[in-house]
Amino acid sequence: MSDAIRVVKASTHKPKPKDAELGFGNVFTDHMFVADFQEEKGWYDPRVEPYGVLPLDPAAAVLHYAQAVFDGLKAFRGVDGKIRLFRPQKHVERLNNSARHMCIPPLDPELALRSLVTLVGIEREWVPKAIGTSLYIRPTIIASEPFLGVRPAKSYIYFVILSPVGAYYPEGMAPVKIRVEERHVRAVEGGLGDAKTGANYAASLMAGEEAKHEGFTQVLWLDGVHRKYIDEVGTMNIMVKIAGEVITPPLTGTILPGVTRDSVLTLLRDWGSKVSERQISIDEVVDADTAGTLEEIFGTGTAAVISPVGELAFKGRRMVINEGKIGPTTQKLYDAIVGIQYGKLPDTRSWTVEV
Ligand code: COI
Repeated sequence: MSDAIRVVKASTHKPKPKDAELGFGNVFTDHMFVADFQEEKGWYDPRVEPYGVLPLDPAAAVLHYAQAVFDGLKAFRGVDGKIRLFRPQKHVERLNNSARHMCIPPLDPELALRSLVTLVGIEREWVPKAIGTSLYIRPTIIASEPFLGVRPAKSYIYFVILSPVGAYYPEGMAPVKIRVEERHVRAVEGGLGDAKTGANYAASLMAGEEAKHEGFTQVLWLDGVHRKYIDEVGTMNIMVKIAGEVITPPLTGTILPGVTRDSVLTLLRDWGSKVSERQISIDEVVDADTAGTLEEIFGTGTAAVISPVGELAFKGRRMVINEGKIGPTTQKLYDAIVGIQYGKLPDTRSWTVEV
């Protein structure tokens, strides 16, 4: 595809919400990035254009067979006024891995990175300022070919939209109540669990709604075969600290290779903390609770960064973790990541890209 990104500026501008009023994902900026793919042409016509509806045939494959992938990353306005993306190359790599999994033609990583930097650059006034707020970036690829046979489509649309956001959970960084899910399954080995594709999120909705009706924020997913090993928490990777060791499930295909997960593991290893990527059963968690060695549980993800679990319900038992308060490791990791994101701490690992 030609390298040049065409820019068509919006003639009107939307009012920007105040930082204190930001929720998650309900406001969108004035422009979006778009590129098209056709089998004979490859990816072509990369452009920034006014934010608006996509031209989509009702027979488009994505609407019928969910052939689509997305990713999510953030731009932060630092305390020094600079705007930084957090680990965008890693997100582009994951978007392309998800794409291959869904038989979607990958993007040129250099152009994908440039699409993010260019769009955020044009929308820099939309990056909120308060700590805890950011500009959420949602790159997405959908199968646009109008065809009802079941096979990979021959045409696609890549688009990037931006949304100024505050906390993902209304609780913010406050500990959430989680119920272990025993009936529904999110993913199985050999399935789509490690691809960031809408189908995984659709598969999670019913369990999430049931948990909400019972007064929980989200569910903790168990593996789909044994219904024994912990997989993820809500839409996030999960970490459990038992007797001084942070344990997280390995990347065996059922869980998403989280960028925050990777950042947390890197930081813990750099600090010399005890860390294991291994299977951990829910019984091991319960036993640790009984023994008094269950110290902390937290979720990691781009949207919420780190989300402490204050209470975990399983088979009628309610485990209160760290007295329902944010644990010291959870807080230390949050401060370290947020510190780098907002330019308050040195970025010694080159995780950020300035816009
Ligand atoms: C995340 O960034 O943690 C997520 O996966 C949530 C997103 C789908 C809104």
